[in-house]
Amino acid sequence: MPSTDAWWRDAVIYQIYPRSFADANGDGMGDLPGITTRLPRLRELGIDAVWLSPFYVSPQHDAGYDVADYRDVDPRFGSLGDADKLIATAHDHGLKVIVDLVPNHTSSEHAWFRAALAAPPGSPERERYIFRDGAEPPNSWQSVFGGSAWQRTDDGQWYLHLFDVSQPDLNWDHPEVRAEFLDILRFWLDRGVDGFRVDVAHGLIKDADLTDWTQPSVVLGGLDPVGPPPPMWDQEGVHEIYREWRTVLDGYSPARILVAEAWVQPEERLARYVRPDEMHQAFNFPYLEAPWLPAELRAVIDSSLAATGAVGATTTWVLSNHDVVRHASRLGFPAETGRKPGIGIGDPQPDTGLGLRRARAASLLMLGLPGSAYLYQGEELGLPEHTTLADEVREDPAWERSGHTERGRDGCRVPIPWEADAPSYGFGPGDDSWLPQPAIWAEYALDRQIGVAGSTWELYRSALAARREHDLGNGALVWSATEGDVLAFRNGEILVLTNFGQEAAELPSGARVLLSSEPLDGDGRVPTDVTVWAAV
Ligand code: NOJ
Repeated sequence: MPSTDAWWRDAVIYQIYPRSFADANGDGMGDLPGITTRLPRLRELGIDAVWLSPFYVSPQHDAGYDVADYRDVDPRFGSLGDADKLIATAHDHGLKVIVDLVPNHTSSEHAWFRAALAAPPGSPERERYIFRDGAEPPNSWQSVFGGSAWQRTDDGQWYLHLFDVSQPDLNWDHPEVRAEFLDILRFWLDRGVDGFRVDVAHGLIKDADLTDWTQPSVVLGGLDPVGPPPPMWDQEGVHEIYREWRTVLDGYSPARILVAEAWVQPEERLARYVRPDEMHQAFNFPYLEAPWLPAELRAVIDSSLAATGAVGATTTWVLSNHDVVRHASRLGFPAETGRKPGIGIGDPQPDTGLGLRRARAASLLMLGLPGSAYLYQGEELGLPEHTTLADEVREDPAWERSGHTERGRDGCRVPIPWEADAPSYGFGPGDDSWLPQPAIWAEYALDRQIGVAGSTWELYRSALAARREHDLGNGALVWSATEGDVLAFRNGEILVLTNFGQEAAELPSGARVLLSSEPLDGDGRVPTDVTVWAAV
């Protein structure tokens, strides 16, 4: 049974991308003081926790997922004192704080990697990373961002980097690496954080023989096909690491959590990360990847609930994050369209109106499900992807490393709009913004939505309040008998119904509508691409 302080089981957790949330000092880059100032708004929205993407010392070759010092804040984002203040302020507002932990790789500017490069082949300094000899790259592995996963050093050795060349993979068979991360966990736990989102949680252990793998490395670009895991992902050895971490977390009260970023399937394998003595949650990427089709969504909801239920864990739901095209744009393409690694000028463009309509319906459907849900900053505004960002301003390493075949993730990372008529739409005090904001941001700005009936902000706020009132996060799903393109389930006394079909759908007689992602038609029926919550 869940313990009484198992707050994460039904939590709505809001992802803050620090670069792009709020800029207090006006340098065009979001920062921790900016976040702290805006926390009351998030409280009003009705979330339970925030997860912050990395704000540690970093040369920012992968937007902070290249950490040079895990125990300090990058001056771009503030100071350790600012982090303490943020954590304390969040707690004062009743919000939990989850921070990102990046254990698969360090930055090439981390002291350990600098020492490794300064030391000769075969030295103890090199053993903390994965160095190999040879005239050719040690194997055929490809970087997730494109190109070989091996980089040659000046003395002829190669080092492994599953991501950018500036992100050397750590050797998790080395006891110093293990000890270091236990210490980093304690460092942040002692500062009061409520948990960690574990980056590339399925990647830490590599197959001992570094066996060749000729298929592309599809993490972040779609899930691996069902079959034996590739030699760099989802190896059995990762689990003992998380069991050890769990014992550290269990020494703290109130409960702290680990959430896995693991691109693993089928879901039974993902569920192994959330067994009772490992992590608490794993992101449900199969749900995020499901097309806007009722049968597919029903299947992934069922398989998610079954897989996590089998190990006693809570299920999570997510539609957007900083690595994928925002769902308000993704859903503006025909339902069968596959995953897009970014969108830019010259690419097919989404239907913005359709995308927003479906995104609102998708979010209301998601928030009606039992379990925990993750939101990505800006989705509560209905924010679309910036799909016409100039290629010259792109910063995602995937754009260069893919030889300009993948636009990458900058389009979902553009600083968000707070005030329609202010410089940088209220992101900061001046005009600066590390990525340019499109003119359409004005119509999505928060100040145009607060108190406006039918706005996306008010829809999310009402949904989160009703979700709490009816305890939907702790509920149980029972499918309703439906016909055609309607997906409908009961969660306690609430009916959640989404109409995917062309014909308007009837609600059961006597149903009292609580919330609707768009107005119902004149006969009280549910139009196409609309979700309704009703008391039945
Ligand atoms: C997953 C993160 O979400 C992504 O942004 C990053 O590029 C890779 N891990 C590498 O750390």
